[in-house]
Amino acid sequence: MLRRITRVSKSQPTIEGAGVHLKRAFGFREVPQLDPFLLLDDFKSDNPAEYLPGFPWHPHRGIETITYVLHGEIEHGDSLGNRGTIGPGDVQWMTAGSGIIHQEMPKQSADGLLWGFQLWANLPASHKMMDPRYREVHSEQIPVVRRNSATIRVICGEVDGVKGPVRDIVIDPEYLDITIAAHAEYRRAVKRGHTVFAYVVDGAGCFDDRRDAYSFEVLGMNYFDFEQRNCLIGPQSLVQFGDGDEVLVTTEEAPVRYLLISGKPIREPVAWYGPIVMNTPEELRQAFEEYRAGTFVKYKGRR
Ligand code: CO
Repeated sequence: MLRRITRVSKSQPTIEGAGVHLKRAFGFREVPQLDPFLLLDDFKSDNPAEYLPGFPWHPHRGIETITYVLHGEIEHGDSLGNRGTIGPGDVQWMTAGSGIIHQEMPKQSADGLLWGFQLWANLPASHKMMDPRYREVHSEQIPVVRRNSATIRVICGEVDGVKGPVRDIVIDPEYLDITIAAHAEYRRAVKRGHTVFAYVVDGAGCFDDRRDAYSFEVLGMNYFDFEQRNCLIGPQSLVQFGDGDEVLVTTEEAPVRYLLISGKPIREPVAWYGPIVMNTPEELRQAFEEYRAGTFVKYKGRR
């Protein structure tokens, strides 16, 4: 059964960290629609003043973050003693677990452009207080699968027997970066019952088999424009789907590039404040109290 679009929304401008201008595809207000995912930020700017302030030292607990850089570089440092820089095509994956303090600082690129995505995956209650960990995956480690007119970078999950390098994320998501040529289509099998969304990076595509039925919500988008474009959905749009076994994307005159991300819902209460996501307000209060008291970080890595 083909998954049908239930909702399309445009990313909204917001300011995070020490003054980074970014676009948020979904976040706090959408809980629990995207369960097990909490947030997706799209940071794309060719004005260094909008990203150089960065995300100086801050804590996280109870989540995992997956950062995917398309252009430019981000320097990272954390309380486990990791230091590194990720660049174009690289992925950084961080499990905050019981607590990590880190910083993420974009560097000025030669042409000024910084572009990438940060996805937050929730941890179930059983794993909220696990030991923190950090991994970097370099662009050349990410396999590319070519199927007819589709090119798929497998970041996490498996396509036609090819496994992505990001493997130990607790909710076991699938994270694919897919490009489809013009006048073509790509069908991707997805698990029934899992939350599935697409985020359009570039170009435009039609994300189910309907061309003239508009029964889904179109939010933050000019409805008239949308209709005129014959159901084609363009960049910085989040596409949510109802249940089913596969996602069909077709293109017309232009190619489309999109992230296709899925995961099994956790279905637990979410208590979320800033960079900390727990199950109860009491756990949140305790986390912030520990941060103030200097006892937040439980595990600093093997020494
Ligand atoms: Co952070």
